[in-house]
Amino acid sequence: MTCILNGYISLSIILLIGKGIIAAASYGIGDYMKIVSFWGKGGVGKTTCSASLAAGLSELEGKEVLLITTDPTPTLSDVLNVRIGPKLKKVDGFGNLYAVEIDEKTVIEEWKTRFGDEVYEVLSSFLPVGRDIIDYISRAPGIADQFMLYILYEKWNEQAYDFMIWDTPASSGSIRLLRIEEEFYSHLGDAVRMYLRLKGFLEKMRKGKKEPLRLIDEWRELAKGIFDMLTCGDHLLYLISIPERVSYLLTKRLYNELEEFGINIRAIVVNRVIKEYGCLKRVREAHLSILKEFKANFERVHVIENEDYEPVGRNGLLKFYDNLEGLL
Ligand SMILES: Nc1ncnc2c1ncn2[C@@H]1O[C@H](COP(=O)(O)OP(=O)(O)OP(=O)(O)O)[C@@H](O)[C@H]1O
Ligand SMILES: [Mg+2]
Repeated sequence: MTCILNGYISLSIILLIGKGIIAAASYGIGDYMKIVSFWGKGGVGKTTCSASLAAGLSELEGKEVLLITTDPTPTLSDVLNVRIGPKLKKVDGFGNLYAVEIDEKTVIEEWKTRFGDEVYEVLSSFLPVGRDIIDYISRAPGIADQFMLYILYEKWNEQAYDFMIWDTPASSGSIRLLRIEEEFYSHLGDAVRMYLRLKGFLEKMRKGKKEPLRLIDEWRELAKGIFDMLTCGDHLLYLISIPERVSYLLTKRLYNELEEFGINIRAIVVNRVIKEYGCLKRVREAHLSILKEFKANFERVHVIENEDYEPVGRNGLLKFYDNLEGLL
């Protein structure tokens, strides 16, 4: 019995991860809205570039822009110098810029609202579980992260902006997200097969009139939709690095991993290259030497120098926007 129960629990964990599940909207991948994201090691300038690009596009180019972060410890508010928070808000002083910074607690609550009933419906169709199982599942590793992708996907389907700029967490976290999404999709295939095998037994146990299999299929479709969004041509993904060896090597690995996921990398951004300062001559030389390696290895390399001002707040971000010219 314990064994059977463990099997069910494994299935439920697969389902649980049923983070992003819901009738897969059958929207075509957007013809208009672009998703822009910067991926890279911690502290290399992902948020700065995301916020500056969002500021420039909205304030200087008159675009409708949504700036959204999936960083569990977000710094968007600090960089914009405007309190953002979990509710989508128009950011004062930046044209048509909207931003949202969702904390983990809000994400878990939203997951429960969105998918709690569905997951409970499926689980309770074959497991004698109470509604409180949903609280437990909602805190399982990966749920919050992946639900963030679902939130991006919802915004994507709305197609209400010209650009959705996605401020990602440090690369390891983002790659993990992709893996979860991919595994989620393939495990749901296993879940369907397992479910079919257990069907006779399950049917005897089923109390409700709902259709768990249909829900599993919808979740699966949704996982595929999210993956399609990430791999489509409207997602402009940039790898960003500083001109130092460790970051350079990580960039190469990330490049390969993203390519394996079928994600096209638009360009490499090498940020914080030291300018020609007398006392930092040797640092500059070291940076130029790594920059040479970047250029030898990647087709499109966009260079940003280390600025002598802090690129934060309205003025700092708009000034920094000059560095992003020609990037899109
Ligand atoms: N070109 C630049 N010149 C000067 N300072 C810069 C430049 N780019 C980024 N910075 C500074 O570097 C620091 C790290 O930048 P940022 O927070 O954008 O990195 P991140 O990749 O988002 O970090 P995390 O992985 O922690 O989210 C910030 O203090 C930012 O102001
Ligand atoms: Mg950041």
